Order: sequence, then structure tokens, then C-alpha cells
Amino acid sequence: MYIRAMPSLMSQVDQALALVFQTLSLPVELARAEPSARPELGDLQCNAALAAGRLVRKPPRAIGEEIAASLRGDPRFAAVEVAGPGFVNLRLSDAFLAEVAAATLADPRLGVSDEGQGSLVVLDFGGPNVAKPLHVGHLRSLVLGESLRRILGALGWRTHGDAHLGDWGLQMGMLSAAIRREAPGLAYFTGAGSYPAEAPVTLDELERLYPEAAAASRDDPARMAEARADTAALQAGDPGLMALWRNLRKLSVDAQARDFALLDVHFDALDGESDVRDAVAPLVADFRARGVARESEGALVVDVALPGDTHEVPPLLLAKSDGAALYATTDLATLQARAAMPGLAKVVYVVDQRQALHFEQVFRAARRGGIAAGVELVHAGFGTVNGKDGKPFKTRQGGVARLRDLLDEAVERARERVDGSDRVDASEREALARMIGSAAVKFADLSGDRLSGYVFDAERLVAFEGKTGPYLQYAVVRMRSVLEKAHDTPAGAPYAVQPAERELVLACLAFGDKVSEAAHLLQPGVLAGWAYDIAQRFSRFYDRCPILREPDDAVRSHRLGICQLTLAVLERALDLLGIDVPTRM
Ligand code: ARG
Repeated sequence: MYIRAMPSLMSQVDQALALVFQTLSLPVELARAEPSARPELGDLQCNAALAAGRLVRKPPRAIGEEIAASLRGDPRFAAVEVAGPGFVNLRLSDAFLAEVAAATLADPRLGVSDEGQGSLVVLDFGGPNVAKPLHVGHLRSLVLGESLRRILGALGWRTHGDAHLGDWGLQMGMLSAAIRREAPGLAYFTGAGSYPAEAPVTLDELERLYPEAAAASRDDPARMAEARADTAALQAGDPGLMALWRNLRKLSVDAQARDFALLDVHFDALDGESDVRDAVAPLVADFRARGVARESEGALVVDVALPGDTHEVPPLLLAKSDGAALYATTDLATLQARAAMPGLAKVVYVVDQRQALHFEQVFRAARRGGIAAGVELVHAGFGTVNGKDGKPFKTRQGGVARLRDLLDEAVERARERVDGSDRVDASEREALARMIGSAAVKFADLSGDRLSGYVFDAERLVAFEGKTGPYLQYAVVRMRSVLEKAHDTPAGAPYAVQPAERELVLACLAFGDKVSEAAHLLQPGVLAGWAYDIAQRFSRFYDRCPILREPDDAVRSHRLGICQLTLAVLERALDLLGIDVPTRM
């Protein structure tokens, strides 16, 4: 069903301004208001007179006066004042604010636009490698990608989340070579023709085996040669190695799926590099035939440097002489396959910023080769998760931290807090600690600019105060409890009069705009920051404006309406961030 979206508060104000600009023959594209820098002067301000003055060669102050005079008759504004060189300060009328607030609360979309219009976006995130456990880098990709999937979905995009498993590379050859050394008699290696349905190792053994095999191959050229030979044989379709690969892949992917479930992360497809294995050779041949690729020192490369480049973009390595599939080549083949999905408009890759050059090369090579023409390709990179020492997070033993260990640590810290609370039954504590711990980690991953790294400090992340996930969960729990306790007073329209009420409602009505902004910038942090601001404004409102103790029935009912509106937008925002809220905490 197609639900028409209601215009947001800001776009209604911009529309009013646009009409005035039109009548005054001012450039309409300047007709924009923004939240006021000085709330004591107004709710919103329009600074367009300054730029317009330069364009039409008139003193900006005079233009500001004209704009203000035309807006003054509009009942949506209670006050319109010109300040300084020509800033127009707008105060919305209580009635207009209340009208938009009531309409937003009644709107099932809560004012979120349907700009996606059913276009398809592929979100490539998670990116775990088969045989290796998920680590902190994957955690960030999972959390950011899941949130972007939800945000774009809320805006009316059709979303397709794809984990793009790393399941076809050298690590598979390292593993089979290591397993053969320990058990050369296994059917996989003897050309038996029929193979077991289960992997020859357990998950624990696999997680021990892989780092050992990788280290051995790194240190010993003979072992590396074996690994390469196995990888080549696998990629050429050796039946025994294929059977072993399938079993190891399943073992590993099943474990990863459990981690995804733990994080409440959802994929439409767990496809991987191996799924395009048959498309790689034709793609390489085609690129060579059309002169998109050229030979260089025995390898095949695609030149992707462009005239205006400010940094060096080296050629993309398409194929080496041994014919093994390369990371960039499988990415190109995968993109080619995705381009066949009907309605595809955009592919977003949520991957560590350290791979920025890789994606630049792949996108340019795709353009040159005519792959996914007209599809927007974006790398939404992110910074590293650091330890308290500011360096990339490691375990106490110095190894790469597994995602599960990180989550466990946050849950453990959360448990310490929950155990000290008498509000929660013992039976609920474990589930609660899980929910709080995972909110803590997710919020830390999401808040702020995704390109900056952040410090993983479990103690701080699970705190109930400050800019944390649990603080936001707690805000929601508190709002629900206010509404519950007031069950005999029906919540009325969210009618805001007092400054603390108006500030809260104004921010709530920016929800739809924030969701759009987060989507355009591919920054869930925009929404996370807004959610934190809402929780703080709610706190001020709660301190300054009594709700349950308010003697006037009408005022109490309006304030309950404000609670309802705040709760609705905050709950929806947390859902878009992938954060669950407990019933009690
Ligand atoms: N498996 C890769 C890694 O761990 C990430 C994959 C990202 N996605 C992509 N299409 N290249 O680094």
C-alpha cells in the first residue's frame, strides 16, 4: 500500500517562505528556515535576506523587513522579528505547533517521508570471512549496516541486505592444507568420490586451526605454496576440496548466523564471493576483449586514475597470472549480478574506511566496464574500534577481539548494574543485562560520525547516564511508566505552551527530517544524536512541568499528549538504530 507522507514542520515553514519569496521576486531556492541559534528570540530563523541582498543588490535589512511584513499576517506565526543585518526570527503559534504535533502523532509514519518510492537499495554489510570468527570490525559494519537498512526501509526504499561472505579466498586453501597435514587419509583428499556431510572439525577446533594455519603459511614458504595450490584446486572445482569447503563454510556460517541473531541483525541473503565464481572468468575475458583491462607484468589490470585526481589511484588488479580470484574481481562480478536485480538504484558498502581505495578502484572500474551503469555506488566507511590506549582494540592476550567477547564484556558490566537493582525480578535480570549490554555497544557504534573511531570502554558504555544506549532505553522506560501511571487521565493533544514543552515538541517534530538526513549522509549518528537530545529535553520538561501532580485536568492531559508524542518518536528512532527497549530497568 502506498501511504502519502505528510510534510514535516520544517517543510511547511519552507513552503510558506517560498510563497513569500515568490511574491517579493526573491530567489526561491533561498527560502529556508533553520532551528534558531538563539531560542529566546524565536523557534526558527531565516537568514536568506543576506544572500538575497547580494543577488538583488538591496540592503539585506530592508529585504528582511519585507519578508517579515509578508509573514506577519500568517496565523502559523505568533511573532516575526528582524534582527541585526537581516535575520528573520520566527516564533510559531501554539495552535500551529499543536496542529502539526497532533497530525504527526496520528500519522503511522510519524512524519517520515516516503522518498524511497520503492526503489531498491542493496546494503552490503557485515562481510564476515568464512572460517574466521567475527571480530570488532565486523561488529561495527553489522550495527551500522543494520541501522541503515532500517532507516532506508522506513523511508520507503526496498532494501536488500547482503552479508557478502568472504568464502572463496586463500583462507580456504590454508585450512584444507592444514587439515590434510593432520589427517591426510580423509576422503576429501583421497579422491574417494563420496564425502561426509559434516565438517571434520568442530567450531572450536576451526577457530583454533585457522589462526595456526595462517601463521604457518606466513612463516613457511612451503606451507604457503600448499595453501595456494589448494586454493587454486578448489577454485578449479576439485570435488574433494569443494566438499570440504562446503562443510567448513556451513559450520562457520551457522555460527555467524547465531551472532547475527544475538545482535538482532537481519540479512536478505548470505551470499558470498563464491556465488559469483562462475562469473569471474567471463568478466575478465570481456574486460580484456573490450580493452577495459590491459596486460601488465603478466597480470591483467584496469587503469582507474582520472585527470583531476588529487591522490594516487593505482590500477585495479583484475587477474594474476595464476588465475586465482581476487577480492576486487569478485566485487566487480558481484556488482554485475546485483545490477540485474529489478529497480536497483543504489548499492551501499558498509566497510572499514581502510578499504576506501579498494572501493574507489572497484567503482571506477565498474564505470569503465559499463557495469551497473546508472546505479549509485557508495562506500559508507567507518573508523576503528579502539582500546583505552587509543590503539585498535585487542584482547588481553593481544589478539584480535572477537565480537562475542566484546558483547560478553558489555553484558557482564550491565549485569553488575542490574544485580544491584531491586526494580527487576531475578528471573528477568539475565535478559535485561543482555538487552542493556547490546544497546550499549550498538549506541557506541552508531553515535557520532561513522568515520571516527571510538574507544571501547565497557564500563562507560553501559552507564545509565551520559550519551549512552542504556540512558536512552531508560528514558523510554520512564515515559512509558508516566503514561501507565496516568491511566485514569486520557492523553490529550500534545499542546505545548511552556518553554520546556515547546522545545521538546519542536525537536520531536524534526524526527522525519532527521531520518532523511541520516539516510542522505548514510550517518545513523544523526539520528542517534537527535535521540539523545530528545531524551535530554524530555528530562528538562519532566523536571519543570509537573504531569501527574498537575492539578489542571486540561494541562495534565496536554502534557500526557506531549509524553505520548515523545515516546512515539523516540521508540521509533531506537528501532531504526536497532536498539530494543526492556519493559523495566
Ligand atoms: N570480507 C571483507 C573483510 O573482512 C569485507 C567484505 C566487504 N564487502 C565487499 N563487498 N567487499 O575485509
